[in-house]
Amino acid sequence: MKTIKVELGDRSYDILIGGSLLDRTADLLSETAPTGKCVIITNPTVDNLYGDRIKKNLLKSGLTVNLLTVPDGEEYKSLDTAGRLFQELTECFAERNTPILALGGGVIGDLAGFVASTYMRGVPFIQIPTTLLAQVDSSIGGKVAVDHGKLKNKIGAFYQPKLVISDTTTLKTLPQKEFANGMAEVIKSAVIRDRSFFNFIRENLAAITKLENDIIEETVFRAASIKASVVMQDERDTGLRNILNFGHTIGHAVESVSRFKISHGQAVAIGMIAEAKISLKMGTLKKNELNEIEDLISYCGLPTRLSELDKDSILQAIQHDKKVTNGKIRFALPRNIGDVYVTDEVEPAVIREALEE
Ligand SMILES: NC(=O)c1ccc[n+]([C@@H]2O[C@H](COP(=O)([O-])OP(=O)(O)OC[C@H]3O[C@@H](n4cnc5c(N)ncnc54)[C@H](O)[C@@H]3O)[C@@H](O)[C@H]2O)c1
Ligand SMILES: [Zn+2]
Repeated sequence: MKTIKVELGDRSYDILIGGSLLDRTADLLSETAPTGKCVIITNPTVDNLYGDRIKKNLLKSGLTVNLLTVPDGEEYKSLDTAGRLFQELTECFAERNTPILALGGGVIGDLAGFVASTYMRGVPFIQIPTTLLAQVDSSIGGKVAVDHGKLKNKIGAFYQPKLVISDTTTLKTLPQKEFANGMAEVIKSAVIRDRSFFNFIRENLAAITKLENDIIEETVFRAASIKASVVMQDERDTGLRNILNFGHTIGHAVESVSRFKISHGQAVAIGMIAEAKISLKMGTLKKNELNEIEDLISYCGLPTRLSELDKDSILQAIQHDKKVTNGKIRFALPRNIGDVYVTDEVEPAVIREALEE
């Protein structure tokens, strides 16, 4: 098992990464959340796969366990669902010190975290991420939220977990497409911060895809470490956290223009290549490094090109985001693999050229 220490003063916590950690949940929890009772929030998909295992472990150690499920899907990351969960928490007599365990992907983590941040003004929150994306990205950093209508993550808070337990063996049941989604964020983290990790991914891609224990553990550990280190320097997203948006300025626009038919990871993959091309056009990235990024993305089974999507609509969607932020289109652009800079000086014409290639 590997441990990452997220140092945030009195909000500090550990991220534990390893195989079969679900069977040790009670032990791992004992220091963080000493209580006779806990609540698990999950969905039926993850419950069927891992619900019994985690419950068995917790019950064996004498804890009272309530398992609450919400339907599977982003559309249930809503205030309605949160309202239902508040009701169920009351009905099972959850108290101020009753920890809430989020067992699932990013949707469950964001939703359960939001509920934990507000129920009785905040109860202990434990992340048990079971998708690659959640293990390397969404479970770390304390952003919890629900969607509001079409607006993603509009109602939320910064609320750090007390502990993150990433059991890498749960990734064995993850559909290939979801795994690829997570790989987009893994590659992103390497490009923004760590050239040697980028090389590691390339050299070990077959073993990563086969989920060989040590290799997948190392991969999750290195990607999660990058996210954690950025969060430690900018907990509330006022500066440095912008670098995590590499691939996302264009990625978000691609996602929304496709009406979410293109998944987040696929859109970010396309976004990373388009944004690397922008950096090339601005003279801040070399062609061979662009090629390396593009090759690794395509080896992971992620798309590298926009197919039939309308470039004008994408440009419009980017401009629309700009109005929503601060009047500038902000990009995190790679300078080298392993080093990124943030700029709002990219001309729309350059964005268009990059999209058209
Ligand atoms: N809080 C943050 O900082 C942050 C960062 C990035 C993304 N997010 C959010 O994360 C969400 C996306 O998360 P996601 O990609 O994990 O999607 P998800 O939670 O929808 O999970 C994807 C699918 O995989 C299933 N699943 C989960 N674990 C499984 C397993 N081990 N085996 C088989 N199936 C499994 C889920 O039931 C779901 O159907 C979005 O709502 C996004 O806004 C949050
Ligand atoms: Zn992302």
